[in-house]
Amino acid sequence: MSLTVVIQVDRDRPRPSDIARAADCLRRGGLVAFPTETVYGLGVHALDAEAVQKLFYAKGRPANDPLIVHVAEFAGIAPLVTAMPDAAATLAARFWPGPLTLVLPRSRAVPPAVTAGLDTVAVRIPAHPVAHALLTAARIPIAAPSANLFSRPSPTLAAHVLEDLNGRIDMIVDAGATDVGVESTVLDLTVSPPLVLRPGAITLEILQSVLPAVRIASPSGEPAAMRSPGLLPKHYAPRAPLTLFQGDPAAARNAMTALARHAIAAGQRVGVLATAGDARALEGLQVVIGELGPDDDAEVAAAKLYAALRELDTAQVDVILARGAPGDEGLWRALGDRLRRASAAIVDVD
Ligand code: TXA
Ligand code: MG
Repeated sequence: MSLTVVIQVDRDRPRPSDIARAADCLRRGGLVAFPTETVYGLGVHALDAEAVQKLFYAKGRPANDPLIVHVAEFAGIAPLVTAMPDAAATLAARFWPGPLTLVLPRSRAVPPAVTAGLDTVAVRIPAHPVAHALLTAARIPIAAPSANLFSRPSPTLAAHVLEDLNGRIDMIVDAGATDVGVESTVLDLTVSPPLVLRPGAITLEILQSVLPAVRIASPSGEPAAMRSPGLLPKHYAPRAPLTLFQGDPAAARNAMTALARHAIAAGQRVGVLATAGDARALEGLQVVIGELGPDDDAEVAAAKLYAALRELDTAQVDVILARGAPGDEGLWRALGDRLRRASAAIVDVD
């Protein structure tokens, strides 16, 4: 493959002819990156095993890392699964379309390549208008991992997709920045109690308000990594090693600032993933800032995280420093999770 076509569309009112072109490419087994409300996905015909192999190759993704299958409507789930537990119907009614992925028993219609040979399948109905239009026009289930090269941060802009996959995929549908910025919550409904395998914008607290039994798989932990190979501890890595400072925010900020000073003195080019407060504490030091927004806004930080990591990579820093999430409530849990997965070293300050 050599030429990757980029189609610019309006986020809320994409032209039907543009959507038809992308849908047609997917139906014929092509690889098409498109925006979802979380991150850009790299779509492929989920029932076309050969096309699915092509996708793993384009991403450099190991074959043991299963894909999420996306559909436009709830009726599209039935052919993909052998059972629809009550809990799935309840959660679907409440959170779909939206950033929640459900793991259910896989039907034979789904090629084993999609699910890495597992007897379960991950499914979701995305809320982004362009994703919805594309899935509706294609009239097929679309398997879509995040549209990054394996182990690179997920793309929140079409430019990020181009950076990683230009010349390796057929098309990119560009509708500007995605909304949430971190990948969907993955909830396994084939186990009891249901387990959150990957935290996201549909938070543990929100899920428990509907299904009190829901539990979280151990953070960056072994059980989740075993059940879901894509959840290997180190997954969302920038090129420069990231050191994460966890614990009391003020103490973490002090420790981070001290290390920044040392690294600069040692002649290193230092990048910092910084909230506004962190940036103030670093004033006067020669650091490249990857901006995360206000200190106390998890939504903004999530939306900015991956772009900030990529900017620091582009700035060719030698090391990246970051402070961990200030807590585990709500979306902070997803942020903390992604920061830990991106890190090469973790410093606990307390
Ligand atoms: O927000 C998202 O979920 C984005 C957009 C494009 O929808 N997609 C995404 O896909 O993040 P990907 O492939 O980067 O991550 C899918 C995650 C992986 O960690 C994978 O291991 C897990 O979902 N997963 C997929 N199928 C599974 C299954 N059958 N059982 C357990 N985990 C599964
Ligand atoms: Mg991914």
